[in-house]
Amino acid sequence: MTLNFSFETTPHVIQETGGASRLPALAAGLGAKAPMIVTDAGLVKSGVLAPVLAAFAAAGQPVEVFTDVQADPPEAVVLATVDAARAAGADVIIGIGGGSSMDTAKLVALLVGAPQALPDIYGIGLAHGPRLPLIQVPTTAGTGSEVTPISIVTTPTHEKKGVVSPLLYPDIALLDASLTLGLPAPVTAATGIDAMVHAIEAYTSKHKKNAVSDALALQALRLLAGNMDRVIADGTDVDARSAMLQGSMLAGMAFANAPVAAVHALAYPLGGHFHVPHGLSNALVLPPVLHFNKPAATTLYAELAGVVLPGQRFASAYAAADAFIAFMQEMVARMPFAQRLTDVGVTEADLERLAVDAMKVERLLMNNPRPVTQADAFAIYQSVL
Ligand SMILES: NC(=O)c1ccc[n+]([C@@H]2O[C@H](COP(=O)([O-])OP(=O)(O)OC[C@H]3O[C@@H](n4cnc5c(N)ncnc54)[C@H](O)[C@@H]3O)[C@@H](O)[C@H]2O)c1
Ligand SMILES: [Fe+2]
Repeated sequence: MTLNFSFETTPHVIQETGGASRLPALAAGLGAKAPMIVTDAGLVKSGVLAPVLAAFAAAGQPVEVFTDVQADPPEAVVLATVDAARAAGADVIIGIGGGSSMDTAKLVALLVGAPQALPDIYGIGLAHGPRLPLIQVPTTAGTGSEVTPISIVTTPTHEKKGVVSPLLYPDIALLDASLTLGLPAPVTAATGIDAMVHAIEAYTSKHKKNAVSDALALQALRLLAGNMDRVIADGTDVDARSAMLQGSMLAGMAFANAPVAAVHALAYPLGGHFHVPHGLSNALVLPPVLHFNKPAATTLYAELAGVVLPGQRFASAYAAADAFIAFMQEMVARMPFAQRLTDVGVTEADLERLAVDAMKVERLLMNNPRPVTQADAFAIYQSVL
């Protein structure tokens, strides 16, 4: 075992309830004369953007607003946003929303300044930059995209591909829990499970797990597991919402440095082919992947049991690992979203294609504590059909 590691994150993170009112000043601090907000229509409709726009109006600072981001952003939407930013002469990009808006904002900041064809930068470290100054404001808790060097795009062949580059860390991440109070319960549940999976998969990541990512993952899981039921019961509970937002950010910091694995690899084909929201697709495959990984991750899952079931004593590491898996399985089962693949339109005839596509996500599968074959992937999908 080595203690060597490397760790990177967003250089400036601010958590401040109500802090969105400071966005005009933060943008000005990055030199903004023509800032542009990248977001989706759902956020405008639900009123999340209103206080932000009011703050820009109060500051007398004009701001362009692009609202056409779609969930699991297709390539065409990313490129249309880049064109809009270029036409507007945008000089600072502000991503406001869930992972879809923040991931699009990252690529806009990157590609406006330094044109490269999007397919040429899928993969790790292929972007040249420089990028425009970038502020990220998450409104789900969540992807942690505000502190990751990753953008996930849906290709015309329905694959989800990632651009991974340190250029994608924003200059500033602003966490304002007041923007998350109206997030509907099913989205709160799915995005919260996504964040928990980031913490779990970072903690069990095979190659780059390290002292810093471990500490972040444990605290993330503590906050997320401890507050999930509270935010589902009462979405306006600002303390619980703040804890979830902080938990998702810490989990993002962890998995940005100790990457996610089989849960995400098996979730991607569900998003790509069936448009299952990212968090829900993770939730569907999480329990069977935990069971599958248990022989290779018993000790680590036992350590996570200590976090989600504080104060409980277990007869053995096996019993603790089982208790952790049961805790996660029960958490998923009581969430207000679909529980089976058939509920999201998948049939038995689709499983082969899903398994084939999951095997293509080698970038993530290589981090899994236990090697996954195509037959394993098929069996995992089949178990939750
Ligand atoms: N970059 C990364 O590191 C990373 C990590 C995980 C996932 N992702 C990607 O992120 C995307 C998923 O992001 P997501 O799960 O945050 O969902 P999302 O961004 O797709 O948003 C889901 C829905 O919730 C709505 N919404 C968001 N915040 C709201 C609020 N506060 N109030 C009311 N409605 C709100 C949106 O309008 C949208 O309709 C996927 O494309 C996924 O692949 C990226
Ligand atoms: Fe995720």
